[in-house]
Amino acid sequence: MRVLLSGILGHMGREVLALSGCRGVEIVAGVDLAAFGECPVPVAADFDCAQADVDCVMDFSHHAATKALTDFCVKNRLPLVLATTGQTEEEQEMIFAAAEKIPLFFAANYSLGIALLAETAKKIAAAMPEAELEIVEVHHDRKIDAPSGTALTLAEALREVRPHATVVTGRSGHGKRAENEIGIQSVRLGNIVGVHEILIGTASETITLKHEAHSRALFAEGAYAAAAYLVGKPAGLYTMQDLITV
Ligand SMILES: NC(=O)c1ccc[n+]([C@@H]2O[C@H](COP(=O)([O-])OP(=O)(O)OC[C@H]3O[C@@H](n4cnc5c(N)ncnc54)[C@H](O)[C@@H]3O)[C@@H](O)[C@H]2O)c1
Repeated sequence: MRVLLSGILGHMGREVLALSGCRGVEIVAGVDLAAFGECPVPVAADFDCAQADVDCVMDFSHHAATKALTDFCVKNRLPLVLATTGQTEEEQEMIFAAAEKIPLFFAANYSLGIALLAETAKKIAAAMPEAELEIVEVHHDRKIDAPSGTALTLAEALREVRPHATVVTGRSGHGKRAENEIGIQSVRLGNIVGVHEILIGTASETITLKHEAHSRALFAEGAYAAAAYLVGKPAGLYTMQDLITV
């Protein structure tokens, strides 16, 4: 399978490129705003000049690329593995609209472990309806979106079993924790790939579930698995839930 990689010159783009050939998926071209520097495959500066003769598009770039990216994939009828995070509500609507026309895999975290963490936390939160829920995420100091897309996805997963919960990000000033709150705290530090912790606690006990990514290759491997899964599927929105139930 031949893939066009958007954001190919970024940190994640380079990780993905390094694994080219994984699961029979090969990166044959790229798109990147910073279209200069060394790259073993042709790189276009925007989607107007990008190579469309591929089987799938993968994206690890910036949310500002959402419109150009989805327009390109819909126009060329290409499946899309979307890994970029931090989209605005308007950009999310573009993604949902595109998924009505093409197969589109969208995950804030392509780690299988995180998908399993979400499922486990949901089970515990459902079995302990009185427990308070907090998420702590830690990432490198280059990360521009806070809270992380993964933390928001984990909070949404928890809201499936706590539909009346409110997601509260950050904590400062005076005032007690509200009842039915899912708190998210963000830490930015050094070169940490990604740590997500879910704390589920009552007055008498706390369960802590922790996932730690050791290398960015983890996300690249997951994106390749998603691409292999996606091609040949009908139009629709696919998530990690689909991968862990295969
Ligand atoms: N879903 C996941 O599993 C996962 C894992 C890691 C990172 N990410 C996300 O992937 C994205 C990229 O992360 P990174 O660490 O590689 O960032 P980065 O800043 O190192 O790389 C981003 C690259 O995208 C390019 N770019 C920016 N705007 C663009 C545009 N409009 N069109 C084309 N290219 C554009 C930049 O020139 C850069 O080369 C972020 O949103 C990050 O949160 C997702």
